[in-house]
Amino acid sequence: MNQQQPTLQIAIDGPAGAGKSTVAKLVAKKLNLFYVDTGAMYRAIAYKALKNEIQIEDEPRVSKIARTTEVVLDHSEERTVWCDGENVTQAIRSPEISRAVPIVASYTGVRERLVELQREAAKRGGVVMDGRDIGTHVLPDADVKIYLTATLEERARRRWGELLNAGKNVSFEEVTHDMQKRDCQDIGRKVSPLQPAQDAVILDTTGLSVEGIVAKIVALTREDER
Ligand code: DC
Repeated sequence: MNQQQPTLQIAIDGPAGAGKSTVAKLVAKKLNLFYVDTGAMYRAIAYKALKNEIQIEDEPRVSKIARTTEVVLDHSEERTVWCDGENVTQAIRSPEISRAVPIVASYTGVRERLVELQREAAKRGGVVMDGRDIGTHVLPDADVKIYLTATLEERARRRWGELLNAGKNVSFEEVTHDMQKRDCQDIGRKVSPLQPAQDAVILDTTGLSVEGIVAKIVALTREDER
């Protein structure tokens, strides 16, 4: 952990449904930091590719989309995600995008462009950034690195609840199957696969309250600052 950082950087990585975004938003609010949801950036590129009827397997064309699309994450409470001026906050959460995004995220050209944007975002001030490769690749000198995880069943239950709340008619089995497939794709890809950084603190959130996890991360950050 680097003591010379002028601004605080907290990296939160882990598989889908581990609670990263819920926890990261609350930690950011408590410590007055920017929250950067890097998964939303990959989702926005998948959205744009599908919207333009580009085959998701067409790596050169999808990579070009990443280079030419403007993705903006709004730091207000609404956390609006803009893709070339279009509000895609809700649209990028659909099961269709969730199925396409691991393929998009496996492309080197896409990752290079988005990592560039993520590092630029971290230069604007202290950040809590969540994703899959933040501690290992995007912010290797982050002050605090957390790897959040939970059992597949618990993660699928959380994601299923979110989808039902959003009015999506999906079965628990379908969500579990999609999530397991996404885990394999994220862990198995060649470029920046999902794995804990060597200096990450691993937190299993199964059965833990959100408040408890947030308090633990805030305490780790304060310890690091001492
Ligand atoms: O966190 P999420 O479910 O919104 O992430 C969407 C996808 O993007 C997921 O398949 C993993 C990928 N991703 C990634 O490869 N690297 C990141 N830093 C963030 C997300």
